[in-house]
Amino acid sequence: MRKNIVAGNWKMNTTLAEGVGLAKDVNEALKGIDAKCDVVICVPFTHLASVAGVIDSSKLGLGAENCADHVKGAYTGEVSAPMVASTGAGYVILGHSERRQYYGETSEILKTKVNLALAENLTPIFCIGEVLEERENGTFLDVVTKQIEEALFDLSAEDFGKLILAYEPVWAIGTGKTATAEQAEEMHAHIRSVIAGKYGNEVAENCSILYGGSCKPSNAKEIFSKPDVDGGLIGGAALDCASFMGIVTAF
Ligand code: 13P
Repeated sequence: MRKNIVAGNWKMNTTLAEGVGLAKDVNEALKGIDAKCDVVICVPFTHLASVAGVIDSSKLGLGAENCADHVKGAYTGEVSAPMVASTGAGYVILGHSERRQYYGETSEILKTKVNLALAENLTPIFCIGEVLEERENGTFLDVVTKQIEEALFDLSAEDFGKLILAYEPVWAIGTGKTATAEQAEEMHAHIRSVIAGKYGNEVAENCSILYGGSCKPSNAKEIFSKPDVDGGLIGGAALDCASFMGIVTAF
């Protein structure tokens, strides 16, 4: 059966000291509860090793927010999947819309990154989602289908089964404008049917599909109550321990 997961994406926020403090707070808060979902924090590269040293990895997963599309070599400023794995991280966000929009990440590049992450036993949290224009002109289901097909459908069923997907409508990210639970469910059910069409029902049913975009303690319960929504990828609200825990405990 698929897992429920709440993952934080800190993006380019917190100094090292602030980040280690936040990670410690989340780690401490998790000790006090019986979480009904897996909990992961995805942090800046600079914080990974230090955060790995202060969290209980049996209760709190750790991930990077990106990795390079090469294993090693003369790629100044890049951080590879083996480097991420060597810090103790177990996850990596790939294909976030901010990477696609601002850093030109194409499906071709993302395909390479997914393979490199899987080769290091990192679990990719693979993001997909439409922009506002695509929502409004009614092409959003097709857009997301194409993102999945182009970047992921060369994978074997076994490798596809190692992925976590995150549906993040770009118009809902950081805008305070959340997709309604019905909009999220429509897309998540669509994504699951696209996976089923390629890999069969079992792979589709076992795939965790997270929702991301202005998810908060006040709306998480309703969104997570939908049958095809298996948790959230949380931006802004993950930067405050109480808010993040408010979402974790929505399950
Ligand atoms: P917000 O929760 O800040 O809208 O960000 C969502 C997101 O992009 C998570 O990856």
